[in-house]
Amino acid sequence: MSRNRCVDDNKPGPAQIKHYADRARDGTGLIVSEGVFIDWTGCGWQYTPVMITDDHAAAWKKVTDAVHEAGGKMFLQAWHPGRCAHDEMPIAKEHKAQVLAPSAIKANAGEYRDLPGQPGHTANVHAIEDPKTVIETYRHACILAKKAGFDGVELLAQGGYLPQQFLNSRANKRTDRYGGTVENRCRFILETIDAIAKVFDGPDAICVKICPTDYLNDSVVDFGEMKETYTYLINEMVKLRGYDPVLDFGKLVKFPGSPSKLMANNDYTVGEADRLIKEGKLDMIAIARPFIYNPVSNPLSKDSQYKLT
Ligand SMILES: Cc1cc2nc3c(=O)[nH]c(=O)nc-3n(C[C@H](O)[C@H](O)[C@H](O)COP(=O)(O)O)c2cc1C
Repeated sequence: MSRNRCVDDNKPGPAQIKHYADRARDGTGLIVSEGVFIDWTGCGWQYTPVMITDDHAAAWKKVTDAVHEAGGKMFLQAWHPGRCAHDEMPIAKEHKAQVLAPSAIKANAGEYRDLPGQPGHTANVHAIEDPKTVIETYRHACILAKKAGFDGVELLAQGGYLPQQFLNSRANKRTDRYGGTVENRCRFILETIDAIAKVFDGPDAICVKICPTDYLNDSVVDFGEMKETYTYLINEMVKLRGYDPVLDFGKLVKFPGSPSKLMANNDYTVGEADRLIKEGKLDMIAIARPFIYNPVSNPLSKDSQYKLT
């Protein structure tokens, strides 16, 4: 979960090493990192970590080493906010980074606490010329993540960020192979999955975080588009890559004998998670907010005062 505390060239430091290692103890199955920007063009928030250079990888290596030492596993969450970055952010100015999106269409709403007047999303949005260059950027960040000792990568494809912008017919007005039909709008995510799965020698180490009913950052579409888009996307992920689907939006379905894993999130308690996993409905449940409590850091710990029931 984003903590915005990476002050040294957006690298994790001793505070992050401790933060993640503390949370890896006491039987936590898998830690997914806070969202990590994969490029200066996609730095929407100040002090958020990035994975762009070998220096960043070296800094993250200290985090994954500490997590592994504490008995945990860790995925990097690969994040590109697309049009939800802002060209007035100091970090964007410093790196002369443009705000990129499938099409030059501003997202409605938005709020940038670090900018005077807290403006909404910028109108200074550039349409990506060739999406393959951005897929290559994801691939490069994932190569660095592998070097940094991460056990896998989660592609952040919800929240109204870049991958979801490609899915959305209001944000994506492209007339090439990446826009228009549902097949074309899903192409960016599917090609990105292919590219990063190769880095990690197959799809087993790749998660994709999607939210069909998302409303964040101007991501709402009508029901017909949502159903058509995610039915196609999920079925393609299942067919080509062995992922399990979440069908019919909200009704979680896991197929008997399926080889891959379905993880769900939002407001689950440990009790509910245990029950759903025992009933075979889900493989994993992500628990987010209780894991950022301080000073007692891990709600699974027997000493935690924030016990989940
Ligand atoms: C402070 C804060 C930071 C978050 N940062 C991220 C993030 O970096 N990446 C992400 O996918 N979700 C992020 N989320 C959403 C959580 O991962 C999660 O989906 C949400 O809190 C619901 O799960 P929960 O009920 O278990 O807390 C964040 C949420 C909060 C409250």
